[in-house]
Amino acid sequence: MAISKTSPSPKMVNPGNPDLQVSLLKPEEAEQYMHIRHEVFRPSVNNILYSRGEPSQETLARVTEEIRDGVVNKGILYLKCVDTTTGEIIAGARWRCVMPKEEGASERTWEEVDEGFERSEPYDESDPKLFHALHDLFSENKRAILGTRSHYVLDTLVTLANHERRGAGSMLVRWGTERADEAGVEAYLEASPMGAPMYARHGFEPVKKVALDLRKYEGKEIMEFILMKRPAKVGTP
Ligand SMILES: CC(C)(COP(=O)(O)OP(=O)(O)OC[C@H]1O[C@@H](n2cnc3c(N)ncnc32)[C@H](O)[C@@H]1OP(=O)(O)O)[C@@H](O)C(=O)NCCC(=O)NCCS
Repeated sequence: MAISKTSPSPKMVNPGNPDLQVSLLKPEEAEQYMHIRHEVFRPSVNNILYSRGEPSQETLARVTEEIRDGVVNKGILYLKCVDTTTGEIIAGARWRCVMPKEEGASERTWEEVDEGFERSEPYDESDPKLFHALHDLFSENKRAILGTRSHYVLDTLVTLANHERRGAGSMLVRWGTERADEAGVEAYLEASPMGAPMYARHGFEPVKKVALDLRKYEGKEIMEFILMKRPAKVGTP
């Protein structure tokens, strides 16, 4: 996958909520981000990633290192939203800018596309089959929906439950959609049913509903996702 680094941008303040501030996550904040993601995803995505039990300290350290490595070496755009009245990180997001490796190329090659879909190693607490089933479900659909086109993709969006509905999620979405508009490319995400209405307000349109039946993997539920795409802004003044 080709991930281009973008230059750090000035901090963005939400006109609706001046107490909240969005900026790029620093490498030393990777552990805080990991804790927020882990906490928010506990009733949902964690049932896929760690279906065989609560992740160990070793696993959490691995996740933290993956986040830190993403920030430092891979140009992954991890964001934090800070409540400036307390200094607490209350929400986070992971955006990626997926562009052709070759400068000047208008689209990625299929080889580049498929490099981006390489499977990662399951965690000790994962059921490897379930872990890969989620990856494959998302990858196959991204491949079909986006093809070789450049895009921004929102991989993760998490707001701590006691800070929901304060505008943090929207600020973190807007951060990426503004960059997608500047670059004149599409944006894409796999929405939870809870996130979908908010994404729709930011111009994302549902493309397809997909489901993962955790009952096939000793789980209890069917998890549904709404694949959403936001068209490229053309003719930006
Ligand atoms: C979805 C989520 C990211 C929204 O974050 P947020 O900081 O509350 O977002 P905002 O304040 O900008 O927007 C609020 C909107 O999010 C949705 N939302 C937030 N909290 C909600 C809740 N408890 N129940 C239902 N919808 C909720 C609603 O659409 C809400 O709009 P409304 O208040 O007009 O109904 C957050 O609730 C979350 O982390 N949920 C759990 C994880 C998840 O589903 N992440 C999205 C994965 S794609």
